[in-house]
Amino acid sequence: MTAVRVTEDALQEEGVRLGRTLPRGSVVWLVGPLGAGKTTLVRAIARGRGVIGKATSPTYALVHHYEAPTGAVYHVDCYRLHRPEEAVALDWATLVTADVLLIEWPERAGAWAPAATHTITLAYADTDQRLLEVR
Ligand SMILES: Nc1ncnc2c1ncn2[C@@H]1O[C@H](COP(=O)(O)OP(=O)(O)OP(=O)(O)O)[C@@H](O)[C@H]1O
Ligand SMILES: [Mg+2]
Repeated sequence: MTAVRVTEDALQEEGVRLGRTLPRGSVVWLVGPLGAGKTTLVRAIARGRGVIGKATSPTYALVHHYEAPTGAVYHVDCYRLHRPEEAVALDWATLVTADVLLIEWPERAGAWAPAATHTITLAYADTDQRLLEVR
């Protein structure tokens, strides 16, 4: 897929669609600068997966756990890792058992980040538009 220009609504629609269609065991990397829409997309993917509430909610947590009818959806936000070595503290053995594993700022986890089955790139196109690429 080539990059498409999306409003926030269109990005969320795409996220919901992805949530419905991603195969079990998908590992999704979300790449893009601060405020590009990675977390917005993660939440839409979770909704598309059928997630209603949130299993854990601390905003400071690196790992957010959602429970979908199809299993666990984990969102790992590696932004606060200062060095890839700090990723050793995360329970990757459990994270890789997810129905869908979503990794934001995967580059900050270095070699700890499990290989992606899908890579989503978001870039700024305009104040209210982004360029979305899914591969
Ligand atoms: N087309 C768009 N797609 C996504 N977000 C948009 C769009 N236009 C404006 N926004 C705004 O940009 C912000 C995106 O925030 P979000 O937390 O999803 O980014 P992020 O990539 O997770 O950033 P960070 O790296 O800081 O975690 C939101 O405030 C959202 O309302
Ligand atoms: Mg974010």
